[in-house]
Amino acid sequence: MCRILLIGFMGSGKTSVGRILADRLGWDFQDFDAVVESRLGTSIAEVFERRGQVVFRDAESETGRELLRRERTVFASGGGWPVRESNWSDVAQGTLTVWLQVEPREALRRIGGEGARRPLLQSGDPIADARALLESRRAVYARADVAVDTQGMDAEAVAGHIETLARGRGDLL
Ligand code: S3P
Repeated sequence: MCRILLIGFMGSGKTSVGRILADRLGWDFQDFDAVVESRLGTSIAEVFERRGQVVFRDAESETGRELLRRERTVFASGGGWPVRESNWSDVAQGTLTVWLQVEPREALRRIGGEGARRPLLQSGDPIADARALLESRRAVYARADVAVDTQGMDAEAVAGHIETLARGRGDLL
């Protein structure tokens, strides 16, 4: 195994856990959202607003296709990356996929004021938005090899748990 791909809802901790996990393994860390923003030269919120969600999703898919070949890397996908079926074909052998589970209320708490910048939580009732979106995605997140319930755990503990899991499942490059 030479890659770990973290998927899950906004606020599930993909970025913070991914950074810590990569550090513990001595691997690189790549965050899809950050790469998309630098590719498009603007923030995700701006892309949604000015160019539309499809432009963002296409850039996100392309980013996944390029990055997911790298070895000795932990990846944090965006929360919506797993929804596009064809994206999964970019997950190469030797990749452990991990769903970081979080409930909507906790996700919003973790996102905090930043929730205001998440384009998909803008109807004025973020908890209702988050509940509906998460329900519509549960089945795709469940395609991950393993699920980790992050409720009540900090990023350090989640990263440690995944490291143990990964080391127990086979040789890490
Ligand atoms: C999205 C999640 C965000 C970002 C964009 C869309 C989604 O990433 O890619 O706002 O569809 O769930 P995070 O999960 O890193 O917040």
